[in-house]
Amino acid sequence: MRDAGRVVKTYTIAVLPGDGIGPEVIAQAERALEAAGERFAIEFTLRRFPLGAAGVAAAGDPFPEETRAAVARADAVLLGAVGDPSLDQAPRHLRPEFGLLALRAQLGVYANLRPVAVFPALVDRSPLKADRLEGVDVLIVRELTGGLYYGEPRGRDAGGASAVNTLRYSAAEIKRVARVAFESARQRRGHVTSVDKANVLEVSQLWRETVTRVGRDYPDVRLDHLYVDTAAMRLVADPRAFDVLLTENMFGDILSDEAAVLVGSLGLLPSASLGDGPGLFEPIHGSAPDIAGRDLANPIGAIATVAMLLRHGLGLAEPAAAVERAISLALEQGARTRDIAESGAPALGTREMGLRITGLIGEAQRSRASVAS
Ligand code: IPM
Ligand code: MN
Repeated sequence: MRDAGRVVKTYTIAVLPGDGIGPEVIAQAERALEAAGERFAIEFTLRRFPLGAAGVAAAGDPFPEETRAAVARADAVLLGAVGDPSLDQAPRHLRPEFGLLALRAQLGVYANLRPVAVFPALVDRSPLKADRLEGVDVLIVRELTGGLYYGEPRGRDAGGASAVNTLRYSAAEIKRVARVAFESARQRRGHVTSVDKANVLEVSQLWRETVTRVGRDYPDVRLDHLYVDTAAMRLVADPRAFDVLLTENMFGDILSDEAAVLVGSLGLLPSASLGDGPGLFEPIHGSAPDIAGRDLANPIGAIATVAMLLRHGLGLAEPAAAVERAISLALEQGARTRDIAESGAPALGTREMGLRITGLIGEAQRSRASVAS
């Protein structure tokens, strides 16, 4: 397609705003995606579909048929957050989280990348001392479609007084996510730390053996293994010790929230979930129903997620870097939402923060235009 003499490429993005603060932060993420599109002459067709409690409200299903069909056809999927306290007591198939797990399973996105890098401008926002935080840059690679979240059998036993979940991994499942960790380490500092509980769990023994075997194909990458309890401690005691942190599903869920404390707010962190088809991109924060609809949420996690979508989902490294630069610049200029503002200091709302960052994405575009005129 041609537009004013520029070649324009079109991508279809399925946007699932979800619940709680999801729609608010996603509105800013869409704005950022459009700004990047304008600057780099890429066209995005954004179409919205319900997921989670929004799916239950729209179609009686946390992962409605319409959404299933749309994500399968999309080039990438952008998701806000799911979760609604009003459905806490609902049967499992009607819970928002069930919709999210079904979405991950359908897309087969087995590798969840959660980068945790401290912004220099926000070093004083972390409860950890500044001298431990400088240069912290960890990539958590979390297995996302196996383990306890999906294992069968599961459920309450008759009468409800006991319950079961199953932790099962095949060597094949471990191998493919381990490869993602080693490949990522090659692009970074060449170090993988694999997390397990091999002193107690057979699944972890298989995990450790399999990761060690995959590691032989990557002699240039240093591999070490930590028990999950030690990893949890080291993550706050010495976060610079980590480059790529490879974990199974549940350990990764827990460690990634812990890692968020390093950067100062869960609201800052993005994620990319990759498999063999379209990728799924979501901030790691939840639906935060307590602040939903009040223009208080931090949109940076969602906007940084757009950068991951561009880089990992569409292979567009330059626009991705432009979005990331705009986020850093806004923070350096002092833009703060409530979660990262000093107490008592004035803070921007969700929308205002989104506008600041979006303006900075378009900056180079405007200066080019003014040079031309
Ligand atoms: C996350 C979330 C989800 C998870 C929930 C909402 C099911 O906590 O993405 O980390 O546990 O995977
Ligand atoms: Mn989580």
